[in-house]
Amino acid sequence: MKIKEFKGGSLSSTALHEEDGKLFVRKEISIIKNREYGFQRWYSQLKRIQRYNVLFPGSYPEILDFGIKGDRAFMDIEYIESADSGIEFLKKVKTFDEVKLFFNELISVMDKIHETKIKSSKNPIKLYFQEEVKQKIIDCKSNLFLNHYKKQKIVFNNITIDALSTQLNEYGKMFESFYTNPIETFSHGNLTLENLVYNPDTNKITLIDVYEENIIDSKYADYSQILQSCNSNYELYNESDNPDLISIPFGLKSFKKLFNEYLNNQLSKEELIFTKLLEISQFIRMLPFKDEIAPKKTIFFYNLASYRLHELIGELK
Ligand SMILES: Nc1ncnc2c1ncn2[C@@H]1O[C@H](COP(=O)(O)OP(=O)(O)OP(=O)(O)O)[C@@H](O)[C@H]1O
Ligand SMILES: [Mg+2]
Repeated sequence: MKIKEFKGGSLSSTALHEEDGKLFVRKEISIIKNREYGFQRWYSQLKRIQRYNVLFPGSYPEILDFGIKGDRAFMDIEYIESADSGIEFLKKVKTFDEVKLFFNELISVMDKIHETKIKSSKNPIKLYFQEEVKQKIIDCKSNLFLNHYKKQKIVFNNITIDALSTQLNEYGKMFESFYTNPIETFSHGNLTLENLVYNPDTNKITLIDVYEENIIDSKYADYSQILQSCNSNYELYNESDNPDLISIPFGLKSFKKLFNEYLNNQLSKEELIFTKLLEISQFIRMLPFKDEIAPKKTIFFYNLASYRLHELIGELK
């Protein structure tokens, strides 16, 4: 029996269920509509959670069952009780010490995943740029976006800047020149602050909503998605009807400070720039999903990506 919908939608849904007094999370997906962005992604999640639950005991929920009902595939996932998503925790938390505990736990969970190294080369960055940047723009089909994409200049934060469309070649070249350490690792694949749950009483983080779509699996990819949440305020913008009016909670600000200090200490200048290039790309990779359900958000996140790229190019001059 369904108790609560975490997220609805025509293609997929994530909901809390109860059967025989036991709670579990069910993620369902249509096996008919939009299989590339629907079923194939859902399937990559299923397999990655299964594997990671074995490889990193305690850091990922267990897959309890999966199968098909009518024209929808489902997976049942262990429900992590008494836990808020990372972003919900950071919205509520009152003290810096509590933020620090959460931050330290997140770093230690990430370190475990990134420990396993996989030999790679620089070539994959070209595939990443083609598939995760250029192709994702091609996959946006709404008239609102198609008209907006023709513009040479856009406005963000009240300033007029070059649109991403005019900067794509430069962006691609930057990716190639700053990808200096082509070692892959295991990675989460979708590590925003809403895709982990945290129980402050036990100081335990459980990672959820993973995906097999990084192309280059690395710590930089995971770091860039955390930056997407804390530097670029992804969740706050996503939830807001008027993104100009978001206010940043104390916990998120404190976390941003800790995480940026950490990256500045851990990464070389080139690695840091590469991570920021990936952070920008996170907003481009999501455009086709937004374009399906909320084309206005497509425009907003396209403008945000343009703005972040404008800032980064400015920093490098
Ligand atoms: N195993 C779980 N235990 C506790 N809460 C969960 C669990 N899985 C999901 N949730 C809650 O539901 C929310 C949405 O789940 P999830 O991130 O897996 O899917 P989604 O982002 O809605 O879907 P999509 O796969 O389309 O990105 C989470 O932010 C979290 O609050
Ligand atoms: Mg999610």
